Amino acid sequence: MKKKDILILGIESSCDETSISVVKNGREVLSNVISSQIDIHKLYGGVVPEIASRNHVINIDTVLDEALKASGVTLDDIDAIAVTYGAGLLGALIVGVNFAKALAYANNKPLIAVNHIEGHIAANYIAHHDLKPPFACLIVSGGHTALCKMESFTNRSLIGTTTDDAIGECFDKVARECGLEYPGGPNVQRMAEKGKKTINFVVKPHEKLKDFNFSYSGLKTAVINYLHNKRQRGEEINIANVCHSFQEEAVGQVVYKSIEACKKFGLKTLVLAGGVSANKRLRQAMTDEGKKNGIDVFYPDISLCTDNAAMIASAGYFCFIENKNIADPFTLAPSATVQL
Ligand code: KG4
Ligand code: ZN
Repeated sequence: MKKKDILILGIESSCDETSISVVKNGREVLSNVISSQIDIHKLYGGVVPEIASRNHVINIDTVLDEALKASGVTLDDIDAIAVTYGAGLLGALIVGVNFAKALAYANNKPLIAVNHIEGHIAANYIAHHDLKPPFACLIVSGGHTALCKMESFTNRSLIGTTTDDAIGECFDKVARECGLEYPGGPNVQRMAEKGKKTINFVVKPHEKLKDFNFSYSGLKTAVINYLHNKRQRGEEINIANVCHSFQEEAVGQVVYKSIEACKKFGLKTLVLAGGVSANKRLRQAMTDEGKKNGIDVFYPDISLCTDNAAMIASAGYFCFIENKNIADPFTLAPSATVQL
């Protein structure tokens, strides 16, 4: 390893994945260990916060050992420790943040506080080594639906955000109403692949939606009402067609707004970030529309779309080299909500 290489240890525990990773120079993943709790939360139809926290406590030590072993480096080689401090489930965040604080203090390493969303964006720097700002970024996750302009690696301006629900939340709710297992998004996608567009769930045509904000609660209600009406009348429901029709509308809105925003702000690169960017239909539809409009569309590998610590280490790297978000190992506090 060259002397000037910078190694960041990333720690992520904001929801139901306990993850620790070592990343070199913000772009090269040396290890990315993810301990998923999906099978546990599946039994309850969604993430149970208290159970998530307890499992982070049980797993985090082992995940660190595995991440260091797989990376081939030791804690001595690490330049700084980056941790997700928010947004997320408070009890879950507390475990990762306290672990990082103790690790940083005991090993005399700088501690970097990372906004989870910046992590999702940074996943793209790992996936595309030449990618650099400025670019437009669509953030689509369980908690966010937002469009922003990345001005630099650590600065961004908000173009639009959801006025009600997040797109991922909407996928999960529709999945539950359709009787599909947690996690909802991937299961809706799988069902949608077997169906056709037979139902019109359009609440308002996209071109009639003002500015660059999003709205998903109307779509969610339209799907729920459709299912309830059918069930009340004892009519058969084709779940694959419901999922397909819903997904077309859900994806259509973010694709339309993102391309319009790129055109308006003269941005030729559009990046997708967050769990919902794993959606195959979204990736395809955005790429197709991008091509028609001379916009290059980027997204991370599926494994980097959902929560992982490599993206936190990458975001931490860009803060570290600019001396930003350096936190005190005694006082850093997790936060359930963090401003975009
Ligand atoms: O970014 P993420 O892992 O966690 C948050 O920070 O929120 O996103 C989780 C969200 C969930 O709502 C999940 O259903 C959704 O991402 N998701 C998907 C797909 N994979 C994950 N939604 C649609 N299609 C997918 N393939
Ligand atoms: Zn996330």
